[in-house]
Amino acid sequence: MAQAERKDSGLFITFEGPEGAGKTTQITLLEQRLATQGRTVTRTREPGGDSVGERVRELLLNGSPGVEAELLLFAAARAQNVQTVVRPALEAGHVVLCDRFIDSTVAYQGFARGLNRDFINRINVFATGGLMPDRTYLLDLPVADGLLRRHQDTEQNRLDRESLSFHEKVRDGFLSLVQDNTQRIILIDASRSVDAVSRDLWESIQQLL
Ligand code: TYD
Repeated sequence: MAQAERKDSGLFITFEGPEGAGKTTQITLLEQRLATQGRTVTRTREPGGDSVGERVRELLLNGSPGVEAELLLFAAARAQNVQTVVRPALEAGHVVLCDRFIDSTVAYQGFARGLNRDFINRINVFATGGLMPDRTYLLDLPVADGLLRRHQDTEQNRLDRESLSFHEKVRDGFLSLVQDNTQRIILIDASRSVDAVSRDLWESIQQLL
């Protein structure tokens, strides 16, 4: 996927992974550490971002869209998030931390649901206008471990309740994306302690900054 030329001074970092990988906890820790360094951070998530994206999120996680509508709704939320949250923050020189982005669509709707991956790539480019993350962290852990963590939460959404084989395909999809994007995506073993994972992330991000 060709990266559209960027003229902003921000840094765009995305976090991906199967269910229960601990992205939310890690993003919160990172956000705090970056703030103590004096960086301005904008945190966002997909689906979500602004009020339109959050309403689409509601439809996606609690509604029952078909497979095609699901893909288009994720893309709609992305287009909105990029336009109203991510780009303006990058232009203002912020570090943008985004919980899930294009790779989730490839893993979930492509690898797991089986939709055409070339088509998904084109939809992603349309939704983002070609904006690519400067860095993506894949927080990886065995599916059973992630689902166990998730089942201990009270909040389970429609996608969490998919079969084990669906989640295995999602994880395989993410791992294959790492292989194909070695410059952009860094694999982090998220089966370890919160501290160990956050240490690795911090070290890696320091190099990027
Ligand atoms: P969320 O509660 O944010 O899950 P998590 O905490 O694991 O990130 O719900 C987002 C769900 O939507 C999650 O199951 C992944 C899925 N998803 C897709 O299927 N495609 C996408 O493009 C995106 C962004 C998310």
